[in-house]
Amino acid sequence: MWKFKLPTEVIFGSGSTNRLNGIADTLGKRKIIVTDNVLAELPLTGGIIANLNNALLFAEVQPNPTVANVDALTAVIRAEKIEVIIALGGGSSIDCAKAASCLAKTTEQSIRKFHSGGAKLGNEHLPVIAVPTTAGTGSEVTPFAVLDDVEKNFKGPIAAEALYPVIAVVDSALSCSVPLKVTAATALDALSHAIEGYWSKNHQPICDTLALEAGKMIFANLANVLNNPDDKTGRDALAYAALLAGMAFQLPKNAIIHACSFPLSNRFHLPHGVACALTMEGAIRLNTPYMNGRMEQFAVYCDFNDIATMTAAITDLKQLGGLPLTLKEAGIENSDIKQLIEESFHPLMNNNPKEVTKEDLAKIYAELA
Ligand SMILES: NC(=O)c1ccc[n+]([C@@H]2O[C@H](COP(=O)([O-])OP(=O)(O)OC[C@H]3O[C@@H](n4cnc5c(N)ncnc54)[C@H](O)[C@@H]3O)[C@@H](O)[C@H]2O)c1
Ligand SMILES: [Fe+2]
Repeated sequence: MWKFKLPTEVIFGSGSTNRLNGIADTLGKRKIIVTDNVLAELPLTGGIIANLNNALLFAEVQPNPTVANVDALTAVIRAEKIEVIIALGGGSSIDCAKAASCLAKTTEQSIRKFHSGGAKLGNEHLPVIAVPTTAGTGSEVTPFAVLDDVEKNFKGPIAAEALYPVIAVVDSALSCSVPLKVTAATALDALSHAIEGYWSKNHQPICDTLALEAGKMIFANLANVLNNPDDKTGRDALAYAALLAGMAFQLPKNAIIHACSFPLSNRFHLPHGVACALTMEGAIRLNTPYMNGRMEQFAVYCDFNDIATMTAAITDLKQLGGLPLTLKEAGIENSDIKQLIEESFHPLMNNNPKEVTKEDLAKIYAELA
């Protein structure tokens, strides 16, 4: 038995952000755009901001958004009686906006209670229109917001139905300005969503199909885009693949790769996609024997002869994108491994097809040493 659902309306296509004003008007009069200070200054995204009638601008979201970012945004939303939130950016801006859309409907001043505090978010939220500018996180179609609590040294997701954006407007033209390294990291984050949704203990047929297609499209297009960043067809394919991958993991949820990514981002400040990419080949080698041939099927669907050629292709993509291939290149010492392992047992680890032991993680990290 399985179920599939996705409450978010998806509007996809190059140029679809031309309709943003009209779409936002259907949801409310008082609008706020949530973004970061890089995107606020870029010509294309800056143009979108300028075209949104009478919208306030909150451009203070940090990469790996913080509890403090969400709390500050919520204070503005309340003070300005905002009715609709437009999240324009990568996963960081979208997650910050989603979390604030829920916090604003509570009586709390800080999202911390619902993050490290573990309290459940209710169903009420302001409408969020998610406009991704990276082809990666899939946050435009997921019920998660990943936040960093700097003071508590804790990074992890909040999960709640109320975190699904109401509308996702996916305009691949926006991702053309993403720098090479971020393009590689975000696409490999999307690949990790496809793989983790596919191997999660909660995997199911529709999400499997979405995962297979996302994986195939990322492998078919990422090298082309890294070699030719202006490849619009390739950028379009990666935006579509990231969307599919978001749909593929939003119900089954992630597993070992994301559980390991949290201390890698938290302690060593690796961008999310870089952290996911670091352990990907090792995690594939670990899980494959426990998947009854399904991982080999994934590799074949993605046009590889076997798992070894697929993992070699992942390593090549990391190299092409300038991502770290070893712990040393990631700024991690061998003496850090013990603590990394201790901090990797996030509840997402329980979704993994193989029950993960400390020895398993030690082997993955030893291969990267
Ligand atoms: N909610 C979810 O389901 C989910 C899933 C995976 C990851 N995440 C989270 O998302 C965050 C990462 O998001 P991300 O990888 O999209 O990165 P990001 O949002 O942090 O952006 C990375 C950098 O790229 C820049 N950038 C973004 N779009 C650009 C563009 N079009 N042109 C030029 N520069 C651009 C940003 O300004 C930023 O400096 C992490 O916190 C991660 O944990 C959330
Ligand atoms: Fe991710």
